[in-house]
Order: sequence, then C-alpha cells, then structure tokens
Amino acid sequence: MGKSDVVLEMRNIDKEFPGVKALNHVSLQVRKGTVHALMGENGAGKSTLMKCAFGIYHPSAGEIFIDGEKTEFKNTRDAMDQGISMIHQELHPINTRSVMENIWVGRVPHRKIGPIHVVDERKMYKETVELFKGLNLDIDPRKKVGELSVSICQLLEIARAVSYGAKVIIMDEPTSSLTETETEILFAIIKKLKVQGVAIIYISHKMEEILKISDEVTIMRDGSLVGSWIANELTQDLIVTRMVGREMTQRFPQRHNVPGDIMLEVENLTSVNPHSFKGVSFHVKKGEILGVGGLVGAQRTELMEAIFGIRKIDSGSIKINGKQVQIKSASDAIENKIALLTEERRSTGIVPMLSVLENTVLAKQTAHTHKYQTSLRLLVDRKRADDTLQFVDSLSIKTPNIKTQIQYLSGGNQQKVLLGRWLLTEPEILILDEPTRGIDVGAKYEIYTIMEQLASQGKSIIMISSEMTELMGMSDRIIVMCEGYISGMMDGKTATDEKIMHCASSHRN
Ligand SMILES: Nc1ncnc2c1ncn2[C@@H]1O[C@H](COP(=O)(O)OP(=O)(O)OP(=O)(O)O)[C@@H](O)[C@H]1O
Ligand SMILES: [Mg+2]
Repeated sequence: MGKSDVVLEMRNIDKEFPGVKALNHVSLQVRKGTVHALMGENGAGKSTLMKCAFGIYHPSAGEIFIDGEKTEFKNTRDAMDQGISMIHQELHPINTRSVMENIWVGRVPHRKIGPIHVVDERKMYKETVELFKGLNLDIDPRKKVGELSVSICQLLEIARAVSYGAKVIIMDEPTSSLTETETEILFAIIKKLKVQGVAIIYISHKMEEILKISDEVTIMRDGSLVGSWIANELTQDLIVTRMVGREMTQRFPQRHNVPGDIMLEVENLTSVNPHSFKGVSFHVKKGEILGVGGLVGAQRTELMEAIFGIRKIDSGSIKINGKQVQIKSASDAIENKIALLTEERRSTGIVPMLSVLENTVLAKQTAHTHKYQTSLRLLVDRKRADDTLQFVDSLSIKTPNIKTQIQYLSGGNQQKVLLGRWLLTEPEILILDEPTRGIDVGAKYEIYTIMEQLASQGKSIIMISSEMTELMGMSDRIIVMCEGYISGMMDGKTATDEKIMHCASSHRN
C-alpha cells in the first residue's frame, strides 16, 4: 500500500478543551477502499478526532490532507463537500417526512411548471431506488421515517452519506443498536463501499467485529496515538494490551457470591400488547447474578421496564421477599429498592445539560424529594459532592471535575455516571440492561467487579446482555427469552454459545 492510496491524512492533531487535552499530536492515514478501525478506551479521544475530521471541531493544531492536498474544514457542510461523511450515534431524522425526503433533505430535486418550482417527486423516487439498489437495501422510499426502526434509520444515514459521493465515511459505534442480521447487512454494505473505493473509519468496542472487517487498526490511549497496524498482524489480546497499556490476563473477576433465599419472584407476567412479554415466570435470589439472554426484540427490556413500574402489566404478580407488591411507577420501584440502568442512555438516561454531580444524585433525589430542610442544604451539598466523587473514583470516570456537563463526557464515561446514579440509591435488586454497551475492556472489568461485590453483599442482580461471553462469564444462572416468552433456563457454568443461541431463536411450541 503506497502513499498515493491515502485519501485522508491527519497529521499531529491537537485538540484542547477547557481543562482537558483531548488530543495530543495524533496522526492517522486512511487508505482508499479500506476499513480503518479506530480503537481505544473510553475517553481516549476517538470521537473527538473524528469530529475534527468532520468539521464539528477545529483542531487546536495540526494539519489535514485530502488526496494529498492540505485542507481545512470550516464546518460539517464543508467537510461533506470535500468528501467526508459521518454517521452519528444520535440520529435526527425528520419523522413526519418520507425516507426519500430524508435522504435528499436540503438538495431535493425541483422541476418547473410554468413559473413555479415544484418538488420533482418522480426524479427523487427514481434516484432513491437507484441508490438503494446499489447498496442492496430493501426500504420503501415513500415510507414515513417515523415508522422505521432506529437501526433502519442508521442504514438510511449510510445511504445518505453515499448519496453525497463520500470518499470517507466515518462510523462511530454503528452497531451498538443493531441486531445481528442488521449488522450483517451493514457489513455487506461496507464491503460494497470498499469495492467502490470508499474508505470507512470504524469505531467500535467490539473486538470480534474489528478483526472481522478491518484492514488496518489505529489504537489511541489518553488522547495520544499508540500506533497503527495491519489488522492481520493483530489478535484480541494484542489490541487489549495496547489499548490499556498493560496486559489484561482476565476478562472477568473471581466470583465469591453465594446465592441465598429468593429475593424477587415474578409469576405469569403478561402484557396484552401483542408484541410484548407473555406468561413470564422467574426468580432471582439474594446474592445471585441472573443473566437474561436473547436476541434484540425478545422483549427483555420491556419485561424489565414493567417490573420497574414504567410499563403496564395486565396480569401476573411480583413478590419481593415473599410479599406481593404493586409497582406502578418508577418511584414505587425505587421505594421497593429496585434500580434499573437502561440500555439507551441518550433517550432515557442522561440529562445532557446537567453536571456529572447532578446526573449522579438524580435518582436518589427523586426518592427523597423535599426531605431536606434548607438549613441542612450546605451539609447536603457536601454529601452530594462526596457521593459523586466516590463514584468518579471507584468507577474511574474520566471527567475534568464533577461540575462538568455530562454531555462533554465520552460515551462510555456517561454510562458509568448512570451506573453510579443507581448504586447511590442502594438497591437490593439491580437490573442492568446491556450495562457494558459502548464500554471499553478495562472499564468492563471494573463494572463486573462492582457487580460481583454487590452480589457478594447479598444484592440481587439481573443483567440483560446480548454478549455471550459476558452472559457466561458473569451469570450464576441464565434465562433466555424469545419473542416475549422465556424459552430456556440454564446454569451459568454449563451454558454454551450454542445452548443460548438455540433458546434465543426457538419459538415457543
Ligand atoms: N466538547 C467537549 N468539551 C470538553 N471536553 C470534551 C468535549 N468533547 C470531548 N471531551 C473530552 O475529551 C476526551 C475524549 O473524549 P472522546 O469522546 O473523544 O472519547 P472516545 O474515545 O470517543 O470515548 P468513548 O469510547 O467512551 O466514546 C474525554 O475526556 C472527554 O471528556
Ligand atoms: Mg466516542
């Protein structure tokens, strides 16, 4: 691979934010028709570097070249005009508009009828069909975007990037909300794009994915470049070592927890909604980690939300410590010492404009609103800060300080703040929905350690996970769901990929 293949080059990029040096002399060379993976721990600077390549941020120092020519991006529009596109994690489609209008927004073709310009629907339709055909996408261009799933919207974003004639498409954790089938579709599209000479920059924490689709891998640590390698020369262990800067021999902590009496028992939980949970019965013991496996769409999240009181249950019962309870809202759940860490931190979790501190104390505050008297305010403020600092420390949350708005933290670090929020309510039953999604290997280990410690203290933990290794590595017992039903149950020690997958895709007969 010669120098002439390089389509995008970033040289000695620095980026400083008040109090943070996010990038320190980072260089990157991306070649035509290749997938270039960008890896590093949470807060390493991956997204920041890509925002510099897409004109969202201006580097404090350094140079950018496209096809060997030095350039600068005034804004994202400018970057797009120069052939760079980025698929965002947070998508903002216009839900009331059609698929094709979303693709061509800002560039809708017009035709003239007499003196009037009207939208040329037919041309737009034809071009959309052609675009989709080139990508093997089977989506109706006239459908309203509001009717499509988040994952299909993500594929639309990619189609849109292609329609701009992008030479480089940046994908920042594109598969975090995709099902396995959708991930396969995405990979097929990536292959097609490669053949057409498009370069893809791919950020992900999923090691298997990286080794499967990338040609080159660049690893960053603490805002600096560790190095770039040909993917074939790397193994998962090598990547991990280079990412965290030390050897990580264990992915899971030793477990000492001993399951005791039954803590939570649900019987026959059913929702009348046709696409929801049906006749679900299971229990979790004190000091037990119960894994919940299944494919996306298995209704695991819906079930847990129902137990947490934020989704309707039409029949069935919930017992805590042998006593039947009525949980009709999140505050009922918190009162019953249940905590729920949700999977979609952006829509249901963080409050972007509030500080790390305020985000951390939020759930606890809800539980104790107005209990504090004004005269105690100072004491309370002190306590809130202490509580927050404790989690910043124990979860290694990377933030300039606890007053920083949470929106400025990296994705993985936001997730850790949310975990801290729930731990602060001192729950007896902790429900974690995909707790390590978007979390790097080192931080995963920290989260697993906390789970182990809580279980050892006798707390009950329910963990929804789509990662097989995590399910098997952390669960005492695993239940598997499929299409709203529990389709299997097994011991964590004897579970295998095959067993879990078999249950996850076996319809109830
Ligand atoms: N707008 C901003 N203001 C202040 N600090 C910021 C801003 N954007 C990013 N940072 C900081 O820069 C550092 C790098 O963050 P970045 O989002 O690039 O990490 P990342 O490698 O993408 O991590 P993750 O894997 O968790 O997504 C972090 O310490 C983050 O808090
Ligand atoms: Mg990021």
